[in-house]
Amino acid sequence: MKGIVLAGGSGTRLHPITKAVNKQLLPIYDKPLIYYPISVLMLAGIRQVLIITNPSDLTSYKTLLGDGSDLGMEIEYAVQEKPRGLADAFVIGREFLAGESCALVLGDNLFHGQSLSKVINSAKCSVEQQGGAVVFGYPVKDPRAFGVVEFDSRNRVIGIEEKPQFPKSNYAVPGLYFYDGQVADIAAEVKPSARGELEITSVNSAYLNRGELSVELMGRGMAWLDTGTPTGLLKAAEYVEAVQSRQGYYVACLEEIAYRQGFIDCSHLRRLGEKLKKTDYGKYILSIADEVERVNRA
Ligand code: TTP
Repeated sequence: MKGIVLAGGSGTRLHPITKAVNKQLLPIYDKPLIYYPISVLMLAGIRQVLIITNPSDLTSYKTLLGDGSDLGMEIEYAVQEKPRGLADAFVIGREFLAGESCALVLGDNLFHGQSLSKVINSAKCSVEQQGGAVVFGYPVKDPRAFGVVEFDSRNRVIGIEEKPQFPKSNYAVPGLYFYDGQVADIAAEVKPSARGELEITSVNSAYLNRGELSVELMGRGMAWLDTGTPTGLLKAAEYVEAVQSRQGYYVACLEEIAYRQGFIDCSHLRRLGEKLKKTDYGKYILSIADEVERVNRA
């Protein structure tokens, strides 16, 4: 399975912060926002990733992540000339996907929680083994800004509505989606909505109409944080700081995940930590390398 991070957009709700800087490059406490969605793909074992961004931000992402080899990954880049909607990811990413299954994650979505790895790996396995699509339902107080899941009386999914004025449930669809190899063909058929966007909800509805969409509900233990507004950015930073300082485990430390997934070995991990050793982030990486070596010696 391949991965796509959609990291363009105009970030108008964050102006003037995002007038000159792409939203996904902004810090969430100690690391750029895009680290968080990339960590989700890595936790699913995905090593081939396409980052889609605006023409003016491409160089910054290449500076930040390079070709991915530092993390034992293959990172490619593509440009979205203007924000044409989330389903545009598959029009732009068609050649990259080459008919393979994929996970799409929005560049500004932050997920964290004990069961995250289990949830995403089960979605990945389901799509790889049975085909179709897996998306998630996450309970929010006001789902009107999202795609919203509609259930029948037996809790079966019968529809997904994009930004409804009168939502039929409190379950919003977060920005993490798993699709089989049909997705580029399905997205190619999507027509712009009334607001002029290629809606991801149209792709999901197409899978639903074929009887090939599964909606997995995310439970209370999962954090899905909004980073689209100044308050959202601040709260997400506070959340990450609180988890890291309390537990001592980092959220979305890509070097750690690359090691634990077997993408890189311990000496490579140590070299990455050395480069960042002036920071707590770098010291954390070095502490993992120390611990691994200590266990190996014992
Ligand atoms: P949004 O939050 O819907 O849009 P935005 O980031 O442009 O922000 P604002 O509403 O403040 O103007 O986008 C969700 C995510 O998807 C975000 O990570 C940007 C990304 N995105 C694209 O990369 N291309 C697109 O065409 C759209 C619509 C979004």
